[in-house]
Amino acid sequence: MFRDKRYVLVCTNERAADHPKGSCTNCGSLEVRERMKSLLEEKNLKSRARILATSCMDVCENGAVVCVMPDNVWYGGVRPEDAEEIVEKHLENGEPVERLLIPEEMSGLSLFG
Ligand code: FES
Repeated sequence: MFRDKRYVLVCTNERAADHPKGSCTNCGSLEVRERMKSLLEEKNLKSRARILATSCMDVCENGAVVCVMPDNVWYGGVRPEDAEEIVEKHLENGEPVERLLIPEEMSGLSLFG
């Protein structure tokens, strides 16, 4: 059921390294996604959350971007070493990781609002 499961959208959009908008892949999002997937497996949380690769969510300046739905929580500047904290605090215990939140005015809330 959608209500009982979180969907973690990890932007894996890729652009050339010198592109002015940058890209989440250049900020390590592929490693973030793989680390989160491994953690869900290790912690036997696959029935509670699913990691999904997405294209650009239009908040590129905050890469690597991760969005947790249906909570509508947006994380930016996420690095592979942050994956464990997101999984443990947010996906296991329902508490967003405050230090990684994208300010509401900069997030992609409008994509879903
Ligand atoms: S490249 Fe990730 S949000 Fe645009």
